[in-house]
Amino acid sequence: MGGLWEMIILKLGGSAITNKALEFSVNHARLVNIVSQIKRAGVADFMVVHGGGSFGHVLADRYRIQHGRDPEVKEQAFGLGLTQMAMEDLNSEVINAFLELEIPVFPVQPSAFAVLSCGKISSFPIAAIRGLLNVGLVPVLYGVPAYDLKQGFGILSGDAIVPYLARKFKASRVILVSDVDGVYDCDPKSNPRARPIKILDEKAFNRISTESKRGWDVTGGMGRKLKELLRLSKSGIRSQIVSADGNGLYRALKGEKVGTLIK
Ligand SMILES: Nc1ncnc2c1ncn2[C@@H]1O[C@H](COP(=O)(O)OP(=O)(O)OP(=O)(O)O)[C@@H](O)[C@H]1O
Ligand SMILES: [Mg+2]
Repeated sequence: MGGLWEMIILKLGGSAITNKALEFSVNHARLVNIVSQIKRAGVADFMVVHGGGSFGHVLADRYRIQHGRDPEVKEQAFGLGLTQMAMEDLNSEVINAFLELEIPVFPVQPSAFAVLSCGKISSFPIAAIRGLLNVGLVPVLYGVPAYDLKQGFGILSGDAIVPYLARKFKASRVILVSDVDGVYDCDPKSNPRARPIKILDEKAFNRISTESKRGWDVTGGMGRKLKELLRLSKSGIRSQIVSADGNGLYRALKGEKVGTLIK
């Protein structure tokens, strides 16, 4: 790896690659735009994590998977499998979009090896991911329902996988692609007068609102995402949130300060 190691962790937000208001609907135009920009930027060392959007969150919410095993929830165990399969369907779409542009991705299904404890990562071996990178493949991970030591099962969110991998692989940068072009002082989707934040630090975070009107994100939405990213920046890894539309991702990959920088 040496000093030239430039590992980028790319999170494709479920908000970006699906139509969040429509169950099980992929936003193909966005997905193609994202993958084309990655291809055009010619990045070599990177891995991808994607979220659930209208695939994972709806089912996880319906069967209350994020709170663990609950005998009150009808057919919850069955719902666990359904949620997993929905995420695999979305993952197939993501994988195909990359393969189509001849980017050698490889799907990595986290619940096959990850163990949670109270919803947090307790064990997450990375030998296979490291090996895949070493042989020139781009691992693509995604948020999933997973076994939990304390509560039976829970949700391993893409937003939790991102900082975990960033630390383990000493990533140089983390880029998150979203359906918004960065962080605002409040949700720009419900407030047309929301003002963009170029640089988000702890102080700025305490002054903004991350309340979302839609109750679909079972993993904490923008608020929890930003908390994790601010913690990550304390360990020296910066992240950037950019739009899935236009050419923001290309510019970010080329080192431009578009969107919001978290530090
Ligand atoms: N202050 C804010 N600035 C920007 N976006 C905000 C803010 N507050 C709330 N949001 C909302 O956060 C959403 C992005 O977070 P969300 O968790 O829904 O998406 P995601 O992480 O891309 O999806 P997934 O969890 O499926 O991967 C935006 O679509 C926006 O509506
Ligand atoms: Mg989310």
